[in-house]
Amino acid sequence: MLKVCWEGGKEEVYPYVWLKDNCRCPSCYHKVSHSRLTFIEETDLKAEPISVQRFQVIEGGQQVEVVWQDVHHSTYGTEWLHSRGFSEESRQARDSRYRLERKFWGSESLDDFPEVSFKEVITDDVALLEWLRQLEVYGFVKVKDAPAEIGQVRRLAERIAFIRKTHYGEDFTVQAKPDPSNVAYLNGPLQLHADLPYYEYKPGVQFIHCITQYEGVGGDSQITDAIHVARQLQKECPEHYRLLTDTPVDWFDIGTDETGEFYKLLRLPVICTDKNGQIRRINMSQPQRDSHFSVPPGEVTAWYAAMVAYYRLLSDPKYCLQFKMTPGTIITFDNLRIVHGRTGYFSGPGERHVQGCYLDWDEVRSRRRVLETKIDPYRSLYNQ
Ligand code: OGA
Ligand code: ZN
Repeated sequence: MLKVCWEGGKEEVYPYVWLKDNCRCPSCYHKVSHSRLTFIEETDLKAEPISVQRFQVIEGGQQVEVVWQDVHHSTYGTEWLHSRGFSEESRQARDSRYRLERKFWGSESLDDFPEVSFKEVITDDVALLEWLRQLEVYGFVKVKDAPAEIGQVRRLAERIAFIRKTHYGEDFTVQAKPDPSNVAYLNGPLQLHADLPYYEYKPGVQFIHCITQYEGVGGDSQITDAIHVARQLQKECPEHYRLLTDTPVDWFDIGTDETGEFYKLLRLPVICTDKNGQIRRINMSQPQRDSHFSVPPGEVTAWYAAMVAYYRLLSDPKYCLQFKMTPGTIITFDNLRIVHGRTGYFSGPGERHVQGCYLDWDEVRSRRRVLETKIDPYRSLYNQ
């Protein structure tokens, strides 16, 4: 391996096979598309530099040159090497730029909750970047003072990327209406839920814009950090947590809307974790949980008990924020992490008017990184 002692005393080692695989010469690497041109099956597993005089630091320390045993020449920028260290410390530093670290919260954080101005994020890239970072870190940001008229969720989404379409269309209107395709379009309460649990590639970010609010008591919004609460459940009752991470549940949606007839179906647990035990996605939607439940009958009651315990925690005022959106407010949140709800209201069709839309996290994070390369280049080092 190539061993480098960096200024300041930090040491890094770089395996030869990786160095050769990442040769930047024009026959190995296409600079404009940032793409490797080599073939994986031709990887030189025994790559070694040719001589004892293995490496040359050239161009006043800016480049390292290697001549390999097959006489191939490679040069690497020292900054390029520096930002690709394999040490635990370097890998951790990269992780925090790959995805921003989530900060979990309960309702006690309400006072200093992230808020941004609609006008600022629409007109100013620095404000836009700040909003996207906060959305990734807290999973929930209020966007204030948008015009109280239709079309604003689209304007806001298109500042980031393109809207993620679903069978409810690109932007959708939530208003009480007779015989609706979704219970959200009734005027009753909406229990805490995450939208679209039956999508394998579930839209990651959701906007809800209040255009007209119900004037009487009701129509309040509720928001809970469901990953934070799942971690509390894990501490308080590991068996409930285990049941919710292990038990497959069928989520479905059947009907007709914007894009015609649909019949969506997906089997996933309520709490989805990755191989490190990190929670990646919460599925929760009482109306859209299928009556088909493919688990042995002896496990059913225990699963329901776990669900009830989790839901009680989610709706506990210690964790759940409740507030009434005023016309012009857009709540923006992580649909993989946050559950949201609405208290019931008693108006006829049309009085309360809310518009929503979705984006994918891939697009939101991509926009965040693009903005960082311009506004905050230190953070963009990730892929230079
Ligand atoms: C929804 C929803 C919230 C609201 O339509 O899925 O959560 O405030 N609506 O009406
Ligand atoms: Zn919803």
